[in-house]
Amino acid sequence: MANAGRFITFEGGEGVGKSTQIKLLSQHLERKGVTHLVTREPGGSPGAEDIRALLVTGDPGRWDVVSETLLLFAARQDLLSTVIRPALARGEWVLCDRFVDSTYVYQGAARGMARSDLDRLTALVVGDTMPDLTFVLDMDPQAALTRTHTRTGNEDRFEKFPLAWHQNLATAFRDLADQHRSRCVLIDADQAPEPVGDQIWRCVRDRLLQK
Ligand code: TMP
Repeated sequence: MANAGRFITFEGGEGVGKSTQIKLLSQHLERKGVTHLVTREPGGSPGAEDIRALLVTGDPGRWDVVSETLLLFAARQDLLSTVIRPALARGEWVLCDRFVDSTYVYQGAARGMARSDLDRLTALVVGDTMPDLTFVLDMDPQAALTRTHTRTGNEDRFEKFPLAWHQNLATAFRDLADQHRSRCVLIDADQAPEPVGDQIWRCVRDRLLQK
């Protein structure tokens, strides 16, 4: 696996600035000549984007947690087999906006799906394709949610859950970063995008580029 690419994921609640940070990291990698692709979950492949539409639009109560989890893992399976694993095998880096950690937080910690069930689905679908590095962007959910109100479109099913639910998410993401300290880096995202981006770039350079 000497030529295998690196797999970096970005996690956090709604409106914490993941897409801006992915863009900034992508620009840094481009300048360094690192071939990479940017993708997202749920979605990122034609099949998974179809499933995304089922998940992120409509009434908050549209899916019970088991259906929601199975849809997420179906989308993940498609993205891994058609996009992520082939790219890593070609030696490309993959930057992914959310991955399986989001399922442990949104469907597990926040919606009550049993960890043992999530572990089994993760073993089946993700196997050893776990990220090399995960940035968990942390900020006050109230401030973050005001950012999402400037978004366009109708992808707001999860944003319609109450504020207390989002606060619970933020705590669960912090706990997750704490539980997986060798892989996850908790980033204070409550600052301008550039200093956050610099911190992320230093970390990527130190951990993944100098090897
Ligand atoms: P996004 O707004 O970051 O693109 O994510 C879409 C929504 O999907 C977001 O509200 C979080 C939710 N989601 C889950 O609930 N579980 C998951 O495993 C993933 C990947 C996303």
